[in-house]
Amino acid sequence: MSAPNKSYDPVEVEALKPEVVEQARDEALAAFAAAADLDELKQAKVAHTGDRSPLSLANREIGALPPQAKAAAGKLIGQARGAVNQALAARQVELEAERDARVLVEEAVDVTLPYGRVPRGARHPLTTLAERIEDTFVAMGYQVASGPEVEAEWLNFDALNLHADHPARSMQDTFFVEAPDGTADSGMVLRTQTSPVQIRAMLAGEPPLYAVSPGRVYRTDELDATHTPVFRQVEAIAVDEGITFGHLKGTIEVLVEKLIGGGLELRWRPSYFPFTEPSAEIDLQCFVCRGASVGNPDRPCRTCSSEGWIELGGCGVVNPRVLVAAGIDPSRYSGFAFGLGLERILMNRHNVADMRDMVEGDVRFTLPFGMEI
Ligand code: DAH
Repeated sequence: MSAPNKSYDPVEVEALKPEVVEQARDEALAAFAAAADLDELKQAKVAHTGDRSPLSLANREIGALPPQAKAAAGKLIGQARGAVNQALAARQVELEAERDARVLVEEAVDVTLPYGRVPRGARHPLTTLAERIEDTFVAMGYQVASGPEVEAEWLNFDALNLHADHPARSMQDTFFVEAPDGTADSGMVLRTQTSPVQIRAMLAGEPPLYAVSPGRVYRTDELDATHTPVFRQVEAIAVDEGITFGHLKGTIEVLVEKLIGGGLELRWRPSYFPFTEPSAEIDLQCFVCRGASVGNPDRPCRTCSSEGWIELGGCGVVNPRVLVAAGIDPSRYSGFAFGLGLERILMNRHNVADMRDMVEGDVRFTLPFGMEI
């Protein structure tokens, strides 16, 4: 732009003539008022306030005016631009409000309309129970471990001190998995117990080890009121320096208190498992009759069959041979382990009389257990 020109008079400059400026302003105001939506307003904004708009171009002329003329021209343009910007902002607010109101109407959802009532199903109480047990152990610092249901025979039996000719091996009627070529010996079985997870956990890391593992197990039983070929166990193992049977007892006491409630006696019956020494069966005092039904025909108890005790599962101090099989030094470490049957706990805790109810997957069985999470 040229230097100030003393003889340059704003009234002589077409773009700075008051009537021209007013006209530019009025055209801008009219364009904003006519904009029907935000897109049109945007176009009007570019046309009337952008770099190439009449008022911007007029503004540029001010620089070339003689100093005494600048103030008046600046005021003239400034006022016009002020009015234009104000009108633009006001219209913007108006059109945004219109758009919001329209969106609210267009996207409204009628929450009173009836919906397709698909029944919601329910979580299986065995799953909920397994999670409760996991939670109890996680609170005591255990990790949750898992293993496959099609398991290596070595892990399911041999590593647990159940050799091929061990009589205890036949205690658990096993589903053997055929090799792909049809020969019987694939070296794989459907796991008969969750105990192989102990071995997996020990092989996976160094002691100290505290692991809990609920899962499905398989045995060749017919399905009837008290048997099922697929059932669930929860296994736990602790291996550390100085672990004793006392730690095992304390741990089971905590579990029972969390699952069933306090004040119940536990009975530790000597037993035999190849993978623990010493071994025991754990019995829980019947929480329904608390022993009052024993020898008392007037007060029979369905929960414990008037025995006074409910069998929970097996346990013991981990056999050093098992530690060796898992690469752990038995002169430094010892451990305890136990395995409990989940169906049995559920049957007792909720008076489920028939095993089949737990495996058939009928939602009428699972629904009354509610949505305990
Ligand atoms: N696996 C055993 C069974 O299925 C239960 C069991 C007993 C697990 C003693 C253990 C244990 O970890 O120490 O009969």
